[in-house]
Amino acid sequence: MSAPQDTTPLLVVEDLVVDYRISRKVNFRALKGVSIDVNAGECVGLVGESGSGKSTLGRALLGLAPVSGGKITFDGRDITHLKGAERRKLANDIQVVFQDPYGSLDPTMTVGEVLAEPLEVTGTKKAQAQAIVAEMLDRVKLPGDSVHRYPSEFSGGQRQRIAIARALVRRPRLIVCDEPVSALDLTTQATILDLFIDLQRETGVAYLFVSHDLGVVRRVCHRTSVMYQGEIVEAGPTEKITQQPEDPYTQRLLLAAPVADPTRQAERRAAWLGLRASA
Ligand SMILES: Nc1ncnc2c1ncn2[C@@H]1O[C@H](COP(=O)(O)OP(=O)(O)O)[C@@H](O)[C@H]1O
Ligand SMILES: [Mg+2]
Repeated sequence: MSAPQDTTPLLVVEDLVVDYRISRKVNFRALKGVSIDVNAGECVGLVGESGSGKSTLGRALLGLAPVSGGKITFDGRDITHLKGAERRKLANDIQVVFQDPYGSLDPTMTVGEVLAEPLEVTGTKKAQAQAIVAEMLDRVKLPGDSVHRYPSEFSGGQRQRIAIARALVRRPRLIVCDEPVSALDLTTQATILDLFIDLQRETGVAYLFVSHDLGVVRRVCHRTSVMYQGEIVEAGPTEKITQQPEDPYTQRLLLAAPVADPTRQAERRAAWLGLRASA
């Protein structure tokens, strides 16, 4: 996939440290000086096994993690410790899509209400909000009459389309996608990943795309960073990371990803065992 022409850094994370408080005396350092950047209109992958700190980085961008060092710059502005009204205003520019389309949508609200809410809380007039909601439903390829229905009436993939539409209504410049297809079956994953790609082409939105699955990242991301135990161990063009990784952890991650071809699978299993033996 070719990278977008515009290479203005939209998001720059430098040396970010996050310490969770475990008890009065004990902290757990979940991010140990992480640096990553995302250009306007670009998709940057963040891969790593469960517990490596991927969601923590996403939460730090949204002001939801205890940052104790480093800096987050968005569009040239230091947003590391933004609070209150300034933080809320940033939601116009940075939105999020989570893994679980069941948990992230209020079941008591119609789809129309779910999508209009982020607009109405910022003072958009009802008629205009309805027009934007109709536009976004169309963008995510859901029928216009979805506005009258409830999230429970939709399949997992359709619910993720609703969550994506909700992230889009404020026309953000960056969406943090935290394992957005991990709860979906493989066929649905593929159609939702295609949707992410189409939306990026149409709107120029940038993604920080979190996944534990290198196969997913290979499909959508221009560049990829690999995280291991709170540190970035390797970063570069996605093709390089997924085809000739240099770091032994990335190599193991790649070999652990399932492949359809049984002969290749056997080769990879042998290579993986070899790597484990030498690790
Ligand atoms: N609120 C919290 N308090 C203490 N530890 C946490 C908290 N949230 C996450 N962690 C720990 O931080 C590490 C990274 O978690 P997370 O960012 O969720 O990883 P990932 O998204 O890669 O699976 C894990 O060891 C997790 O247990
Ligand atoms: Mg996570």
